Amino acid sequence: MAILIKSPAEIEKMRISGIALSKVHDAAKAAVRVGATTMDLERAAVAKMEELGVKSAFLGYHGYPAVLCTSVNNEVIHGIPNEKHVLHEGDIVSVDCGVIVDGYYSDSAVTHPVGKVTPAVEKLLRVTEASLYAGIDKAVVGGRLFDISHAVQVMCEAEGYGVVREFVGHGIGKSMHEDPQVPNYGDPGKGPRLKAGMVLAIEPMINMGSAEVKVLEDGWTAITVDGSVSAHFEHTVAITNDGPVILTL
Ligand code: MF3
Ligand code: CO
Repeated sequence: MAILIKSPAEIEKMRISGIALSKVHDAAKAAVRVGATTMDLERAAVAKMEELGVKSAFLGYHGYPAVLCTSVNNEVIHGIPNEKHVLHEGDIVSVDCGVIVDGYYSDSAVTHPVGKVTPAVEKLLRVTEASLYAGIDKAVVGGRLFDISHAVQVMCEAEGYGVVREFVGHGIGKSMHEDPQVPNYGDPGKGPRLKAGMVLAIEPMINMGSAEVKVLEDGWTAITVDGSVSAHFEHTVAITNDGPVILTL
């Protein structure tokens, strides 16, 4: 398991990819409203990618049919945009997207509320996003990979949430998935030593109930086994001598 080290010039290219990706996310977010379908979000993302002249990292990946994953409520990740899937008041929708610019990948995800959500759901979103930032804070030279994992885990489990085990974050660069895997649980002080030039996609997937998930018949959509709602936040993060740099803002 070799973790590839990126040069400052490569990280600069990944930042350009990440900035474009953040604009695609903004476009998808603007399409989120009561009565919209998940395909409306997909169309908004496709239009923005065309405008920016960037390529999707997801479309065609192992046969994946869209540029976004749109996962609603009890769907954890890899929900496929669908003309028939209407967003209702109180829903949440996790939007995951990746782009390729000049050969460099970026990958990020955010869970949006649809209209007004319950305080409990609001809290799930807030804590899941905060756990991503707690993990990012540990993405420092000289640290260990599972320091990141542990920071995510303790913050979410303290609230009684289930930390998904079956899916993990990952290294990213000239491909979407590189070594290492970045679990959202683990022992602090363990795992590979973090070095300047490593770039990681850190992505907590957090269930309001139990951690268990299963994949639907479509071969993609992962849902919670207990039907509880689930949130997903992700950034592509470079480890540098000046600390963690979020490339997907
Ligand atoms: N964003 C996902 C990840 O981090 C990949 C989505 S799978 C795809 O691994 F098929 F939609 F591309
Ligand atoms: Co990812």
